[in-house]
Amino acid sequence: MVVDLRSDTVTKPTAAMRHAMAHAEVGDDVFGDDPTVNALEAKAAELAGKEAALFVTSGTMANQIAIRLHTQPGDEILMEAKAHPYNYEAGAAAAISGVQTRLIVTEDGLLTAEHVRSAIRPENVHFAPATLLCVEDTTNRGGGGVYPKARLAALTATAAELGLKTHLDGARVFNAVVASGIALHRRLEGFDTACFCLSKGLGAPVGSLLVGSAADMARARRIRKMMGGGMRQAGILAAAGLYALEHHVHRLADDHRRARMLAEGIEGHGFTVRAPETNIVYVSLPNAAAAQEALAEHGVRCIAVAADSLRLVTHLDVDDGGIARTIDAFGALAR
Ligand SMILES: Cc1ncc(COP(=O)(O)O)c(C=O)c1O
Repeated sequence: MVVDLRSDTVTKPTAAMRHAMAHAEVGDDVFGDDPTVNALEAKAAELAGKEAALFVTSGTMANQIAIRLHTQPGDEILMEAKAHPYNYEAGAAAAISGVQTRLIVTEDGLLTAEHVRSAIRPENVHFAPATLLCVEDTTNRGGGGVYPKARLAALTATAAELGLKTHLDGARVFNAVVASGIALHRRLEGFDTACFCLSKGLGAPVGSLLVGSAADMARARRIRKMMGGGMRQAGILAAAGLYALEHHVHRLADDHRRARMLAEGIEGHGFTVRAPETNIVYVSLPNAAAAQEALAEHGVRCIAVAADSLRLVTHLDVDDGGIARTIDAFGALAR
C-alpha cells in the first residue's frame, strides 16, 4: 500500500461521509433553495463568529472572491512572500482584480504588525494605494506554523489603523484551532473576511467557506456567480462538509501527533527536519527531486517543493503504520 503524504487534499470520503452525501436534501442553490448548503453556511458563520458565510468550490476561489471584494483595480495588497494567493493561484489577483501584490519576506511565513507598518508607503500620487492585508493561518510553505492569538490581534488592529481591510486565508485554520486550543471565532476576531477549506485536513471531497459580514457575503455571492461558481444541487457536497465539521475537527490532533512522530523518526536517520506545529513536515536535503523518486520506489509519496526541500503532510488516510513505513523509507534513503 502506498503512503500518500503529498498533501492533506488526497483523502477519500469515508463510508459515513458518503452516506451523508447520498442522503442529503438538495435544491437549486443559485435560487437559495438548497437546505443542506444553507445549513452548512449557517454552521460556518456560527463557528466563525461572523454574520454570514458562502460555500465556494475551493480555497483559491474563496481567496480570490475576498480580494475582489476588498479592492479596486490599481490597488496594492500585502501578504507574506510564501503566501498561497501569490504563489499558487495562477496570477488570479492580477488577472481578476487588477491588483498588484507587495510581498513581505519572513523566515517562517508569519507576519508581525511591524512588518505591515514598514511595508506601507506614504500617500503619494506615484504609489498604488494599499487596501488589503492577507494573512495565512496555518502557513503552508511556512511549515504549518500557527499564529499566536496576540499576533493576529496586533495585525488586525494595525491594519484597521492603516485603513487596510483584512482577509485570513485559513485553508488549514482548523489545524490552528486544534493546535492552539483557541476557538475559530476567537482566531477570526477583527478580520473582515476569512476562509477555510473542507477538502484538506477535514477530509471532504470539495469545498471551502468564505465568512464575513452579511453585506460583504451578499456582494461575494454576486462575485462568485461572475466567476462561474454558482452551483445547483450543491447540497451533496455541503453534506460532506457538515459531516466533516461534526466528525473530523478534533481528530486533527492525531495528524499533528503523527507529524511529530514522522519528524522525529526522519531526524533519527540524520536528516534536517523543521519541527512541525501542525500536520506539515519539511525535510531539507541536497537533491529533493531524486529523494522524492527514491521514496516513491519504497511506496511513499511526497513532494519536492524546492531543489533542497521535501514536504510531507499527514491526514485522515495515514495511520501509525503509514508513518512507520515512511520513517523506514527515509532510513533506506540514508543508507
Ligand atoms: C494556504 C492555502 N490557501 C489556499 C489554498 C487553495 O485551496 P484550493 O486547492 O482548494 O484552491 C491552499 C491549497 O493548498 C493553501 O494551502
